[in-house]
Amino acid sequence: MADIYTVGVVGSGIMGGGLAEVAARAGHEVVLRSRTSEAAEAALASITVGLDRQVAKGRLDADERCSILTRIVPTHDLAALASCDLVIESVIEDLPVKRSLFAELDAIVQPSAILATNTSTLPVVELAMATRRPAQVCGIHFFNPAPVMKLVEVVRPITASDDTIERAVEFAGRCGKDAVTVADHAGFVVNALLFPYLNNAIRMLERGTAEMVAIDTAMQGGCGFPMGPFALLDLVGLDTSLAILDALYGEFRDPNYAPATLLRRKVAAGQLGRKSGRGFYAY
Ligand SMILES: NC(=O)c1ccc[n+]([C@@H]2O[C@H](COP(=O)([O-])OP(=O)(O)OC[C@H]3O[C@@H](n4cnc5c(N)ncnc54)[C@H](O)[C@@H]3O)[C@@H](O)[C@H]2O)c1
Repeated sequence: MADIYTVGVVGSGIMGGGLAEVAARAGHEVVLRSRTSEAAEAALASITVGLDRQVAKGRLDADERCSILTRIVPTHDLAALASCDLVIESVIEDLPVKRSLFAELDAIVQPSAILATNTSTLPVVELAMATRRPAQVCGIHFFNPAPVMKLVEVVRPITASDDTIERAVEFAGRCGKDAVTVADHAGFVVNALLFPYLNNAIRMLERGTAEMVAIDTAMQGGCGFPMGPFALLDLVGLDTSLAILDALYGEFRDPNYAPATLLRRKVAAGQLGRKSGRGFYAY
């Protein structure tokens, strides 16, 4: 089983920056690729702010902060990923965009490398089949915020080799995560169970069972959840949540997955959650 040294991360949104931080903390050299140099630099700046906060709180050593940061190289150039041993794609939840990115990565990244996706719901096999190395493609699904959440779902498409899955599980472990291996079914384990709950919370708001804040308060206090459904939807991103529900509904045709109308309207209005400054709440 070949070791993973250099890790590429493609996409620098909510998840991409967190993934780069997690991999660099685990001692990997990281290439963080965004579509523009400005976005890549901004992602590194945001990681720096987060690490500085941890140093100030005494949770991270100042020297360790510096070495984590020197291990992350931001770039806009896809070719900079050529010598990576593992590339994790974490761009917008859109199958055609991800498929064409996998075809590009396949042509650029060394043949022995694993190409992984952080998709929340999309069929990993379709990304595998966009490459000439389907046996070396799998899902490595982190949770938000990636540096904090312990779980990683390692997704096994029917095309993946045992070696690929073993290396992905080992990588997750080295990043300090608990990995569960799951089949390539939409939503895997966590989102397949979580999203009917989030979707039904929006429907409950639509039919006037309670105010939004009351629903959040009820689920925090009544179930011991760290945040209510609307705060969580805003954290995930409403566009990403809509894409997840669309993919789940497309696969299972279960009405619980059919996206609530208010979610669609909010996305159409550009109210995407924390990342746009307004979603169900204003930030
Ligand atoms: N938000 C979450 O809670 C969460 C958790 C786990 C996994 N994910 C998954 O991670 C991936 C990224 O989600 P995110 O929340 O970071 O999204 P985001 O909206 O914060 O960031 C999306 C990224 O994709 C890039 N992008 C947008 N359009 C693109 C295009 N046409 N070509 C290439 N890049 C493009 C953007 O520049 C940005 O870097 C998705 O597959 C999502 O399902 C999200």
